[in-house]
Amino acid sequence: MASDTSALLTTERLHLALLPPDAAWRVLEYHEANRDHFGPVSPERPANFFSVTYWRTRLAQDREDFRHDVSLRLLLLPRERPLGSAPVIGNLSLTNIRRGPLQSADLGYALDHRYEGRGLMTEALRAVCDYAFGVMRLHRLHANHLPENLKSAAVLKRLGFTVEGYARSFLLIDGRWRDHVLTARVAPDDTPEPR
Ligand SMILES: CC(C)(COP(=O)(O)OP(=O)(O)OC[C@H]1O[C@@H](n2cnc3c(N)ncnc32)[C@H](O)[C@@H]1OP(=O)(O)O)[C@@H](O)C(=O)NCCC(=O)NCCS
Repeated sequence: MASDTSALLTTERLHLALLPPDAAWRVLEYHEANRDHFGPVSPERPANFFSVTYWRTRLAQDREDFRHDVSLRLLLLPRERPLGSAPVIGNLSLTNIRRGPLQSADLGYALDHRYEGRGLMTEALRAVCDYAFGVMRLHRLHANHLPENLKSAAVLKRLGFTVEGYARSFLLIDGRWRDHVLTARVAPDDTPEPR
C-alpha cells in the first residue's frame, strides 16, 4: 500500500499515486477543469461529484479498495513537482478485479485536456499494465471505448490491446445507451502464477 507521501509507480515524466483524502481539492480542480472534456465519454456521476466532500470520501475509499484487492484507482501527477503539491493531470483505474479462474480487471483512464498529445497516457498505461500483469498477477485487462473516441482507440492500440467485439447499447452516458468497442490485452506468457 502506498503511503501518504509516496507514489505507487513512477515513470519518466509521471507519478502515479493513491493520494490521501486531504488532496481532495486537487482532484476536484482537475475534474472541474475537464468537465466538458470528460463529460461526453463519462457515465453519470453522483450528485455531489464536484465537491471536496465527495473526493475526501472517495480518496479514502480508493485506498481501502486497493488494500482489499477490489480496485486500483491512481492519479497522475507531473514528476517534476513534489507529490504533496503537484496538480492532478490524469486518472487511471483498474476496477472489477476478478480473481479465481478469471484474474481480470477493467481499465479506465482520462487525461487533462491541457496535457494531451504528449504520450503521457501511453507512458502511464505502459507502467500500469506491467504492474497489473507483474505485481498484481492479473491475466487479462479489458478496456472499452465509444466508436468515435479515436484518441482512446489509438492509445489502446499502442499498448497492444486488440479489439474483441462491439457491444450495442453498452453504457449509459448522458441519458443515452451508447455502443462501445470492446478491447483486451492478455498477459505475456511469462506472467507469474495467479495469486
Ligand atoms: C483518451 C486520452 C487519454 C488520450 O490522450 P492522448 O494525449 O491522445 O494520449 P497519449 O498520452 O498516449 O498521447 C498520444 C499523442 O501524443 C503524441 N506523442 C507525443 N510524444 C509522444 C510520446 N513520447 N509517446 C507517445 N506518443 C507521443 C502521439 O503522437 C499522439 O498524438 P496524436 O493524437 O496527434 O496522434 C485523452 O484524449 C482523454 O483523456 N480523453 C477524454 C477521456 C477519455 O476519452 N477517456 C477514455 C475513455 S474510453
